[in-house]
Amino acid sequence: MHYLHAALSEMLRLYPALPVDGRCAEADYILPDGYRVKKGDNVYYIAYAIGRMSNIWGDDAKDFKPERWLDNGIFQPESPFKFIASHAGPRMCLRKDFAYRQMKIVSVGLIFLFVI
Ligand code: HEM
Repeated sequence: MHYLHAALSEMLRLYPALPVDGRCAEADYILPDGYRVKKGDNVYYIAYAIGRMSNIWGDDAKDFKPERWLDNGIFQPESPFKFIASHAGPRMCLRKDFAYRQMKIVSVGLIFLFVI
């Protein structure tokens, strides 16, 4: 199950179900890096690109490699601000664990029913 969890995380890293997400500013705001956002501005982050950046994930960023999530076979979670597929902070996906469970149930069905 550690390997399956790692493989599903790797899948979401490279193919996030929500590849682009963002917010619209209700008021003028200054981001932590000093960038000024004006009321009405839209700010987006691109999870699809973040999951493929070598300065975040290393030179093998574009490879599908579940092992990157494992240490001696044990799953190692990443900061949600790095692995952004489920969003991060107070508005993070509320049902992330449930979504993983659903993906595992579907995986079991696929592995049981098909020769891949
Ligand atoms: C692999 C599957 C899923 C992915 C990748 C995913 C991803 C996300 C992301 C990126 C957000 C943040 C959206 C935003 O605020 O801009 C979010 C929010 C949310 N997700 Fe998921 N989600 C998944 C499955 C699910 C499932 C199965 C449920 C419910 C059964 C769920 C319930 C929610 C809820 C309620 C929020 C809103 C949280 C809030 O705004 O406070 N998600 N999800």
